[in-house]
Amino acid sequence: MFATTIISVFLATLLSSVSAQNLTTGALGNATVVTNNPPGAVYLATLPTTEFNNPSDPRGNVKGSIVATASPNGIGVSFAVSFSNLPTSGGPFVYHIHDQPVPEDGNCNSTLAHLDPFIRGETPVCNSTLPQTCQVGDLSGKHGKIESDPFVATYTDDFATTVNGLGSFFGNRSFVIHFANKTRITCANFALSGSTATNASCPPNSTASATASNPAQFTGAGTKSTASMALLLGVIALAILL
Ligand SMILES: *[C@@H]1O[C@H](CO)[C@@H](O)[C@H](O)[C@H]1NC(C)=O
Ligand SMILES: *[C@@H]1O[C@H](CO)[C@@H](O)[C@H](O)[C@H]1NC(C)=O
Ligand SMILES: *[C@@H]1O[C@H](CO)[C@@H](O)[C@H](O)[C@H]1NC(C)=O
Ligand SMILES: *[C@@H]1O[C@H](CO)[C@@H](O)[C@H](O)[C@H]1NC(C)=O
Ligand SMILES: *[C@@H]1O[C@H](CO)[C@@H](O)[C@H](O)[C@H]1NC(C)=O
Ligand SMILES: *[C@@H]1O[C@H](CO)[C@@H](O)[C@H](O)[C@H]1NC(C)=O
Ligand SMILES: *[C@@H]1O[C@H](CO)[C@@H](O)[C@H](O)[C@H]1NC(C)=O
Ligand SMILES: *[C@@H]1O[C@H](CO)[C@@H](O)[C@H](O)[C@H]1NC(C)=O
Repeated sequence: MFATTIISVFLATLLSSVSAQNLTTGALGNATVVTNNPPGAVYLATLPTTEFNNPSDPRGNVKGSIVATASPNGIGVSFAVSFSNLPTSGGPFVYHIHDQPVPEDGNCNSTLAHLDPFIRGETPVCNSTLPQTCQVGDLSGKHGKIESDPFVATYTDDFATTVNGLGSFFGNRSFVIHFANKTRITCANFALSGSTATNASCPPNSTASATASNPAQFTGAGTKSTASMALLLGVIALAILL
């Protein structure tokens, strides 16, 4: 009972000091910049014609795609985002890379939470001036919400990766568009669609891979909450010892 109280107090102090600065860092630290993306690999996610949130909407599904291309210098991934035919109310819409792919039945709920290999969580919201402190998958948090129709945006995200094996790899995952209230509107899977790299004259630089390989082991959706809880308990234990 007493121990519980102490833990609560420490936890409250910890959380309030974090929110006072509005600076959140993942339980595993800030997101790391990936510098060894195989140049030119292109991943494409195209929205389906089938509606998810409102199957009887005569306007049909949101149209569009995300094309994600590894940067020529291997640092980060360039995103070309294009959406149209968005709902006429309920915005501004947000979109994220989600942890799991969309299953064949098209259920966007099955994509689970945002891609978050550093276990940062959704709240407080991402501060886009410090993108390393945001969830890797929080594309609209880092790069802007959907506030127009059509909506077109291009940007480079330094934290997403096309290196299969890293936790921040998105090539086997999905993205989801949400209403402002987080209800899921539609979703699509990323898949490798080709490469802009002409040939072996520009080989992927694999020497830098050691620096960013740690998050890989923390990706599984199932292990995420366990790892997070273990870490939290560790932090609390440390706080008590100090
Ligand atoms: C975001 O971070 C910047 C730079 O640290 C800071 O000045 C600003 O107040 C932060 N914004 C919010 C909403 O926390
Ligand atoms: C920090 O977040 C709190 C609660 O979300 C908010 O009230 C406050 O204005 C934020 N501070 C800054 C500097 O943005
Ligand atoms: C995370 O990044 C922020 C902003 O640069 C920095 O203030 C903070 O110390 C970093 N946290 C860790 C654990 O590296
Ligand atoms: C979220 O917003 C949409 C669009 O306004 C609405 O249809 C839906 O019912 C809302 N969901 C919740 C849980 O309030
Ligand atoms: C998806 O989740 C929303 C919100 O919890 C729920 O209203 C909806 O029925 C779910 N849809 C499916 C197909 O599971
Ligand atoms: C996606 O790939 C990453 C990195 O290889 C892996 O850790 C993760 O388990 C994979 N996710 C799915 C849903 O297959
Ligand atoms: C690969 O690049 C080299 C040098 O840029 C060029 O000479 C060669 O024709 C290219 N090969 C292919 C298959 O594109
Ligand atoms: C590969 O990356 C390493 C570390 O970033 C760098 O030192 C090296 O020059 C790079 N090699 C090539 C061929 O780009």
